[in-house]
Amino acid sequence: MPTALITGATSGIGAAFARRLAADAYSLVLVARDELRLIRTADQLKLRYGVPVEVLPADLATDEGLAKVESRLRDGVDLLINNAGFGNPGHFPDVPVEREARMLKVHCEAVLRLTLAALPGMRERERGAIVNVASVAAFFTRGTYSASKAWVVNFSESAAAELRDPRIKIMALCPGFVRTEFHQRASMDSSTIPGFMWLKADDVVRDAMRDLALGKRVSIPDLRYKAVVAIGRLIPRSVQAMVSQRIGR
Ligand SMILES: NC(=O)c1ccc[n+]([C@@H]2O[C@H](COP(=O)([O-])OP(=O)(O)OC[C@H]3O[C@@H](n4cnc5c(N)ncnc54)[C@H](OP(=O)(O)O)[C@@H]3O)[C@@H](O)[C@H]2O)c1
Repeated sequence: MPTALITGATSGIGAAFARRLAADAYSLVLVARDELRLIRTADQLKLRYGVPVEVLPADLATDEGLAKVESRLRDGVDLLINNAGFGNPGHFPDVPVEREARMLKVHCEAVLRLTLAALPGMRERERGAIVNVASVAAFFTRGTYSASKAWVVNFSESAAAELRDPRIKIMALCPGFVRTEFHQRASMDSSTIPGFMWLKADDVVRDAMRDLALGKRVSIPDLRYKAVVAIGRLIPRSVQAMVSQRIGR
């Protein structure tokens, strides 16, 4: 039975990955900070899908939490989903630097370190896959959040290119707006986001797993957001920045 480790597995996109991979008969390792919620999520998955589920409480914004997850990854996993993430309330430069640094730690350092911890086992077994959850924001200028997600996309593509091993897949997943706890946690006013722009986490994961199987290095779920990214590439960055500052901030 293959094993998948998912960070941020108790809510939103990570929880959707956990359901999908359990249905695909993966044994799971779930990572998040809230231990009680992890245990509850694991119990539900075990009951519904009959697969083994480990819980690994860890704060990926700390060296201690990162070391814990790195150590589990060195025991070997077939699939790593680097998904944990969040948005900071407020705009640059008003967000305190500690919060900005925390975001870089979870979005960038954790993705780098967990990828490095998972790869040796995958190379030894000559198979494996890593999905790094970025965002459509990576292609726009939406504060330090989009800057961190741009790093995730570039890192994933660079790592896949440098690895030069088609048996080990590395893919950046770039969803648009998805109904999860993300916006509430970031105190975002999501009322300015038009209803037709919302995606469902289960649909995002379905598209991601299809694109991973196809060997894509960047996955943008849904035609609406493929169009948004394509149009965004055609308009000047200054106009793009003005529009993206106004939606859902
Ligand atoms: N929702 C969207 O519109 C959207 C769009 C594009 C990209 N994304 C990206 O998708 C990913 C998942 O977001 P989501 O929308 O599913 O958010 P969510 O519903 O708020 O879930 C976030 C998950 O990450 C965990 N987490 C947060 N900080 C953590 C930390 N320091 N250490 C370990 N776990 C942590 C949370 O659990 P605990 O609180 O228990 O730790 C939770 O399980 C993020 O990387 C986000 O940037 C979201």
